[in-house]
Amino acid sequence: MKNVRKLFYAAGLMVGVACLMLSSCSKEGPQGPAGVNGINGVNGTNGLNGKDANGSCLVCHTVANFDAKIAEYHLSKHYLGTTSNRFTKFCARCHVSEGFEQILGSGLFVVANDMPASNRINCTTCHSHNGFDFTGDTVSQVLATTSPVFLNYNKNLTSTDFGKINNLCVQCHQIRGATALVYSDTTLVPKVLKAPFDQLPYFPFTNTDDNATVEYRAGRSFSVHDGNQSNLFSGINGYEYAGKTYTRTWKHSDMSCTDCHMNEFDAATGEGGHTLWVNKAACTACHGSDKITPVQALIEAKRIELAELLTTKKIFKKTVNSTTGAISYSAVATHDFNGKLYPTTQTPGDLFALSSSMNTVSPTTGLVVYDNILKYAKDSDYTNRIGRLWKYGELGAAYNYAYINSELSKGAHNPGYALQLLQNSIDWVTAN
Ligand code: HEC
Ligand code: HEC
Ligand code: HEC
Ligand code: HEC
Ligand code: HEC
Ligand code: HEC
Repeated sequence: MKNVRKLFYAAGLMVGVACLMLSSCSKEGPQGPAGVNGINGVNGTNGLNGKDANGSCLVCHTVANFDAKIAEYHLSKHYLGTTSNRFTKFCARCHVSEGFEQILGSGLFVVANDMPASNRINCTTCHSHNGFDFTGDTVSQVLATTSPVFLNYNKNLTSTDFGKINNLCVQCHQIRGATALVYSDTTLVPKVLKAPFDQLPYFPFTNTDDNATVEYRAGRSFSVHDGNQSNLFSGINGYEYAGKTYTRTWKHSDMSCTDCHMNEFDAATGEGGHTLWVNKAACTACHGSDKITPVQALIEAKRIELAELLTTKKIFKKTVNSTTGAISYSAVATHDFNGKLYPTTQTPGDLFALSSSMNTVSPTTGLVVYDNILKYAKDSDYTNRIGRLWKYGELGAAYNYAYINSELSKGAHNPGYALQLLQNSIDWVTAN
């Protein structure tokens, strides 16, 4: 498709050149006075007037401009990060260039197969020309997509419009959708699972009864995955408690991701422009002082308060890294992989099912072999178990913690909604 498009453009340009040559052809005889300028050539394909390439193309296509963009982009995490080349089937759509191009074309949730030998996110991932009649909104004419996004969260059933440029970023910077191996077996024999992945039954959170119960099985997750910036920015898809009101819009709701993440480039700090890092110094022009750090500190404190509360309720478990001292919180499963309740005391001889991820890369094809193994073992975590089903309100609180924790802006993308999600979770768990 790309190549076809390139050929088409090349042909279009050549037609333009040929027309120019014809209009300046002269017949034999003495040279007459200079004629008037010819009219612009007509593009044979769509019948529109051609454009002066110097005027319209060189707005962007100067060597200096492209060199600057390349240098800036080389400071971005898209370029420097370690994960922008994950090519497995469930990751490629957001983590590699060819994967992104494929899902834009197919409109599907995942790519057709693993994509070894693919490229990390680069200029052509985000850019592609869809016209040369540059008037008005020129920028969106050079972006790969500006269409509303079919969020993974909704299983691609409805599209959400985040605004033109945002729709490009949000194709990737969205909730990945929690998937799990769908498999059930109680034979107590270890085996390799070839079962398909499916979206978890409690995604998305359409539930309105906070007291309804739910299993939180080993091997499953309510993880939103890194990248749900778009949801917080728009104040959507958090777990919202019945009877509470939520404020979705805020001061900067009208801004594009790029208004902050491609603001003026500062060579000294390596922020702004195509680095995709926010040049925060530029924000003080309006703010007068640093408004971001205090807001982030407030929300971080609330996030920890919620995690500590969930730990006392045995919904979370707190782990302190013995060498670094780093604290982390993880959710504790209520049931094993097959749906058997974990007791809160030791039950000698009792075995519980766990799946462990043993995916390997085939040395012959380079493709990932999905070989999760189902194993059985005694439970050593019984002192941390809650010993009952979770309530939806508890699942929602745990989910809201993850929503804020993995979002990375520490609430800066929508301070009001972030605080409401955390505070309402704290209030509900405390009261129930
Ligand atoms: C608003 C900025 C902008 C303008 C104006 C612009 N381009 Fe581009 N062009 C780009 C970007 C960005 C790329 C992608 C670069 C890449 O992928 O390496 C690109 C890529 C191209 C390519 C490579 C093929 C492709 O689709 O990837 C061609 C050919 C091209 N432009 C021709 C032109 C011509 C001819 C004009 C004027 C009629 C023009 N461009 C005007 C920004 C612009
Ligand atoms: C093709 C998918 C894709 C698109 C489109 C995309 N991103 Fe990303 N973005 C990623 C991935 C994947 C990473 C993580 C890269 C890594 O760590 O290797 C990332 C990382 C980032 C980071 C750094 C986050 C961190 O981990 O600290 C920022 C900031 C960012 N992107 C902003 C943007 C903005 C703004 C846009 C739109 C102009 C955008 N991205 C478009 C996939 C994408
Ligand atoms: C819907 C798009 C999407 C899909 C699908 C996706 N990711 Fe990501 N991932 C992102 C974005 C965007 C980022 C960077 C932004 C961020 O870290 O918040 C990221 C970041 C990461 C990171 C870096 C986190 C860190 O702490 O630095 C890892 C690791 C990762 N992804 C692994 C995976 C794996 C493995 C898969 C497939 C099973 C996958 N991702 C599928 C969008 C996606
Ligand atoms: C993550 C997506 C993304 C990637 C990757 C990306 N760009 Fe862009 N680029 C954008 C967006 C979005 C805009 C529009 C910015 C705006 O005006 O808000 C843009 C604008 C541009 C423009 C026109 C505006 C100008 O200032 O001239 C050029 C040229 C350009 N990019 C070149 C490049 C080149 C070259 C690369 C590779 C080194 C690249 N881009 C990589 C998203 C991207
Ligand atoms: C009002 C300005 C603003 C807008 C608009 C905005 N962001 Fe951010 N973003 C920030 C700030 C501030 C941070 C936190 C940076 C920090 O702590 O250093 C951030 C952090 C991030 C990060 C994590 C980067 C890091 O520092 O690790 C990603 C990824 C990101 N934003 C993506 C997006 C996407 C995608 C959009 C559009 C849906 C968006 N942002 C819209 C201001 C903004
Ligand atoms: C055009 C002026 C303007 C610019 C530029 C601007 N802001 Fe703001 N911002 C405001 C105003 C006005 C408020 C709300 C009033 C207040 O809280 O003082 C605000 C509030 C905020 C808040 C909420 C603060 C709080 O206490 O709740 C955040 C976060 C924020 N801005 C981020 C950013 C970031 C990041 C940038 C730079 C990329 C930025 N803003 C650039 C005008 C601006």
